[in-house]
Amino acid sequence: MTDQVLRDQFGRGIEYLRISVTDRCNFRCLYCMPLEGMQWLAKRDILSYEEIADIVGQLAPLGLRRLRITGGEPTIRPDLPALVRMLRAIPGVEDIALSTNGVKLPALAAPLREAGLDRINLSADSLREDRIIAIARRNLGLSPIAAAQAAEDAGLGPIKFNVVVMRGINDDEVVDFARLAMEHPWHIRFIELMPVGDMRELTFEHVVPSDEILGRLAALGTLTSDEGPRGNGPARYFRIDGSPGTVGVITPMTHTYCGTCNRVRLTADGRLRTCLYGDHEVNLRDPLRLGEPMEPLFRRALAEKPKEHQLLQMQVGGLRALSQVGG
Ligand code: 5AD
Ligand code: SF4
Repeated sequence: MTDQVLRDQFGRGIEYLRISVTDRCNFRCLYCMPLEGMQWLAKRDILSYEEIADIVGQLAPLGLRRLRITGGEPTIRPDLPALVRMLRAIPGVEDIALSTNGVKLPALAAPLREAGLDRINLSADSLREDRIIAIARRNLGLSPIAAAQAAEDAGLGPIKFNVVVMRGINDDEVVDFARLAMEHPWHIRFIELMPVGDMRELTFEHVVPSDEILGRLAALGTLTSDEGPRGNGPARYFRIDGSPGTVGVITPMTHTYCGTCNRVRLTADGRLRTCLYGDHEVNLRDPLRLGEPMEPLFRRALAEKPKEHQLLQMQVGGLRALSQVGG
């Protein structure tokens, strides 16, 4: 354990690193990737597991104690449990989470848990088979409930769902998703669509503001503010009439939470990004491959971390998709 705290130029404590292990995905979600024309990173440009562990091993003692593995879809990279095992062995690492679309969870939940993974976030935008296929634009036989159950059975709790709400596409399922939190100790987070990246089908008109989502949830019972599950995120949580799980909203479009941002991101090709949206990044990979120490680079990046994202000021389509920056 370390009690060091890393601070950025605005005094925010930074303790959370999101690590993208691949830019590729077995899905093509409407809001994330175009069907055609993605440019994939070359293998030699992607950090090896050893290189990722080297970077984390240098940064964890400084106070970067919570990790999340993301993508693209991280579970499609071969032998992900090997990376989890390496990260788990690093002194100072307290918490390791994984973001996944769940397709591979029935097979991977137990080996990931055994390797030392603590918990998962499941991306699930529909509970209806035809819609899952229509949104993901792939038919891989995913059942979000079976995936969550597999994770829970393996001990990867608390289970969090991420539901990107899109008007006219899945917003009529908000109540169905919320019911899961009334039946299971699951935490259902509704995310406002960010119309970014190269998406042709979605626009600002598909954004459903969180207040509207909460209004629909009120039909299920009394919403009481709740601390929510342990974690690091920007969600605001509520419990519906003493249910085992919670519902929450993540509001990149209607409320900025940049003031309490505690995170930085490592892209699959080894760039440290200090803000999800914005151009600021520092190449860690090339210096790492030359044997240079990471700490000074990391401290410089934190000194330059932007105050807040510029999501609302930007033109749709002008930004890298989340699969390319590690969610
Ligand atoms: N808008 C909102 N959330 C997004 N995600 C990816 N792209 C977007 C977007 N355009 C988030 C969702 C998804 C995870 C993989 O990344 O939470 O579940
Ligand atoms: Fe893949 Fe996640 Fe992007 Fe969907 S949102 S295409 S599951 S990376």
